[in-house]
Amino acid sequence: MITKILSDSEQDIEVAAQILKNGGLVAFPTETVYGLGGNALEASASQAIYAAKGRPSDNPLIVHIADTASVYELATEVPETAKTLMEAFWPGPLTIILPKADIVPKETTGGLDTVAIRFPSHPAAMELIRRSGVYIAAPSANTSGRPSPTTAKHVKEDMDGRIDAIIDGGAVGIGIESTIVDLTSDIPTILRPGFITKKNLEDIIGEVRIDPAIIHPDPSLRPKAPGMKYTHYAPVGELTVVEKTDIAVPTDARFKDEDSAAVADMINDLYNKKKEEGSKVLILAPEEHCHFYNNEDTIAVGSIDSGITVAARLYAALRECDERGAEFIYSESFKDCEIGGAIMNRLLKAAGQRIIHV
Ligand code: TXA
Ligand code: MG
Repeated sequence: MITKILSDSEQDIEVAAQILKNGGLVAFPTETVYGLGGNALEASASQAIYAAKGRPSDNPLIVHIADTASVYELATEVPETAKTLMEAFWPGPLTIILPKADIVPKETTGGLDTVAIRFPSHPAAMELIRRSGVYIAAPSANTSGRPSPTTAKHVKEDMDGRIDAIIDGGAVGIGIESTIVDLTSDIPTILRPGFITKKNLEDIIGEVRIDPAIIHPDPSLRPKAPGMKYTHYAPVGELTVVEKTDIAVPTDARFKDEDSAAVADMINDLYNKKKEEGSKVLILAPEEHCHFYNNEDTIAVGSIDSGITVAARLYAALRECDERGAEFIYSESFKDCEIGGAIMNRLLKAAGQRIIHV
């Protein structure tokens, strides 16, 4: 199969819309990451998505819509909290889980009786959904297990020859996947942290819980979002996060500098040891800290003062580690950034929870 590379012009989106209508697969940009789309109401399209990604078919897909009215077709019950959240955050990087209607095939929901629904804010995504007249089932457009794609080039690396087309809409804005909230339990529960935080949600709907399996990754806890149980986002090299242990000191600039220096010393020790053994080693750090490390072997991942810039760069940095053949990767922690929770969720999954406390 030849994968067409399309632009985000109206004519090209029309070409992509026809492909979707005819049962084909198209990767497209959203504000979070690139999605790999097919007709959500056609079991065969969902099966083709699993095949293209090499993804286990018990891992449900998110259904993308372009107007809130569609929710009432896809779900049997739409509680008040759902309406409030839709109003506050859509279009945008929030996915809600509701009881599914019969029109949604089990192939799309991985056998579950619930459906994940998202109304993306990216103009090309909206245009594609509207023009095709199709609800688009779309996981992130990476091969299963690899970091999610934040550019069309990343999608091509993973999907060339496996899908009909890729819409190139440039680099995405947010860079990590949508926040997922389950609204089928008594208390709304975050199944995957994202750009929209627990606090953002609580400001609007009151108490929100976080799935315990996310806070304390532990093999005996089964996450409610099946996708969260798989190793994800992982680079080929062995990634370790190095973090300063929290101590009860005032968050005084003086202490912060000492903390950064202690982390940098540890990372440099680890780096030097692996280098001496002849291994290819790379370091991930916020741009403010790159000066601590060997310039050539350090990749800047945004700024500590802006979690948004870290999120936007994270997956590209993990992919760069693969491209450069890194066997070992040491990363600073980004837990103190805003949206640090979502960033660390992804980084620690990529690290297989490997973390050293200084
Ligand atoms: O930002 C995003 O959400 C991106 C873009 C493309 O929209 N999509 C995305 O899809 O990240 P994917 O398939 O990579 O992740 C979907 C996650 C998985 O962890 C899956 O298990 C969970 O959503 N999920 C989907 N339907 C669910 C359901 N009915 N119940 C619980 N979890 C569900
Ligand atoms: Mg994914």
